[in-house]
Amino acid sequence: MWLKLLSGNRILLMLSMKIDVVALFPEIIHPILQAGILKRAQGAGVLSVNVHNLRDFATDRHKSVDDYPYGGGAGMILKPEPLFGAVRTLACQSDARVIYLTPQGMPFNQPLAEALSLESHLVLICGRYKGIDERVRQKLVTDEISIGDYVLTGGEIPALVLIDTIGRVLPGALGDYESAQDDSFSQELLDHPHYTRPSDFEGMKVPEVLLSGHHEKISQWKHEESFRRTVRRRPDLLEKSQLTKEDTDYLSSSSVTEDN
Ligand SMILES: C[S@@+](CC[C@H](N)C(=O)[O-])C[C@H]1O[C@@H](n2cnc3c(N)ncnc32)[C@H](O)[C@@H]1O
Repeated sequence: MWLKLLSGNRILLMLSMKIDVVALFPEIIHPILQAGILKRAQGAGVLSVNVHNLRDFATDRHKSVDDYPYGGGAGMILKPEPLFGAVRTLACQSDARVIYLTPQGMPFNQPLAEALSLESHLVLICGRYKGIDERVRQKLVTDEISIGDYVLTGGEIPALVLIDTIGRVLPGALGDYESAQDDSFSQELLDHPHYTRPSDFEGMKVPEVLLSGHHEKISQWKHEESFRRTVRRRPDLLEKSQLTKEDTDYLSSSSVTEDN
């Protein structure tokens, strides 16, 4: 959905995103949506998040959402009927991306968050127990996403990871002073170190250049520090990065010093 925002005397057209979450434990998700930037983004109409209890889509009188696995084995499986009911209700009038959070999915990262931020509607399915009935995955799910190579008890925290990361990069969610542009991964480099007042804390001094007021030198320092950190901590990121001549000189020099 497009949204008109007034900025000074300009009218900006902005994309607003709708996210529906289907979860067995919505109470895990609600508090996080009510604080900080996510709260503000929802207040500004940039983001709208609705969390639905899977049990509300149960079809039997006991409101059951899980059952024993065919073929035996430990653990319960989320039944197909409530999940089909939920997705068919929530995604019936849109081209929603239907995302199942699963450790078997595509690894979530900043470029994927930025790509998803261009969508207008996401439906997030949170699994529990041993996971969901395979037919939900086959018929309804458009994307499977993992937040890392470890197994959590449910998809609620992974869903929050997506909402927070995507919500943060939606146009209008961050103020200028919180700009995401220099953050780690945005430019294939890690962020540079940051300092605030006092300039001398227990004998530890802020680098002279940051106090100089010389914008060009400051931005050169920031780039060099970002680059140095990336070389030391995540050299894999540099394979995709566009290196400047100074960066290549730096790499081939012996001045790649310890990161402290
Ligand atoms: C205990 S896990 C099930 C794991 C599943 N049996 C497997 O081995 O692939 C229960 C639910 O937590 C969520 N989950 C757990 N770890 C996750 C991860 N790393 N990324 C995304 N979702 C995860 C999924 O929704 C999953 O259905």
